[in-house]
Amino acid sequence: MMKQLLLSFSPLLVFLLHCTTTVAQSPATSPAPTNITAILEKSGKFSTLVWLLGNTQVGDRINTQINKGNKGLTLFAPTDAAFSRLKSGILNSLSDQQKVQLMLFHILTSFISLSQFQAVSNPLHTQAGENSNGHFPLNVTSSAKQVNITTGIDTANVAKSIYTDSQIAVYEVDNVLLPLEIFRHLSSVFAPSPEGPPSRASVDTSSAMGLMIRHAAVWLGVAAIAAFSL
Ligand SMILES: *[C@@H]1O[C@H](CO)[C@@H](O)[C@H](O)[C@H]1NC(C)=O
Ligand SMILES: *[C@@H]1O[C@H](CO)[C@@H](O)[C@H](O)[C@H]1NC(C)=O
Ligand SMILES: *[C@@H]1O[C@H](CO)[C@@H](O)[C@H](O)[C@H]1NC(C)=O
Repeated sequence: MMKQLLLSFSPLLVFLLHCTTTVAQSPATSPAPTNITAILEKSGKFSTLVWLLGNTQVGDRINTQINKGNKGLTLFAPTDAAFSRLKSGILNSLSDQQKVQLMLFHILTSFISLSQFQAVSNPLHTQAGENSNGHFPLNVTSSAKQVNITTGIDTANVAKSIYTDSQIAVYEVDNVLLPLEIFRHLSSVFAPSPEGPPSRASVDTSSAMGLMIRHAAVWLGVAAIAAFSL
């Protein structure tokens, strides 16, 4: 009797099993939305950029743009080492609007693959807007092996691709792209090089140390909270 009951139910069981496996698989068919912060945090060397993208809310804007399925975009991602080359305090001296502009200047309005850099025409279009000289010009100079980006203030080398999908290309760059519009008014933008006058260099080392200590403190805090919650 029991056996018969089970047998007559078995097609139903198979059907139910099929349903649960289909449900379990469905996240794979609709992938999690792209999260630029998560992409950058994964490589561990973009903490200043992640902070700026959060502070200016440009990170949310990028996520919205790529997940809404608009035409793609390209992000140049300066490393923490790139930011540390700037004169200390220079980021804090920018207005909120200038910080937003600085971030938007690192975003091209279209998806550009590494090989396409050989063929793009200058100036590139950034989300900061007006790219004629005097505002936000951004040019590419490339050889077979190298892609450089110039702003009229400085030059950054495209070190490598961090992430790419059909919507967004993220490239690591070794310098912060400094737009003319914001930085031409400043007499100096870079920290003195280590070979420079010892007194100035030591001041900058200490401020860089300060930043590192603050980062370390945050991580210790996170670790402590994690330890407590165990
Ligand atoms: C994106 O990732 C960051 C870091 O992993 C996380 O804090 C944030 O909540 C994520 N945002 C969304 C919309 O999932
Ligand atoms: C890129 O910039 C570096 C350093 O400024 C320079 O040595 C190199 O020749 C440049 N390469 C191209 C293709 O412009
Ligand atoms: C960028 O390229 C344009 C067109 O070739 C040129 O007129 C302009 O001077 C360049 N600007 C910079 C900052 O290199």
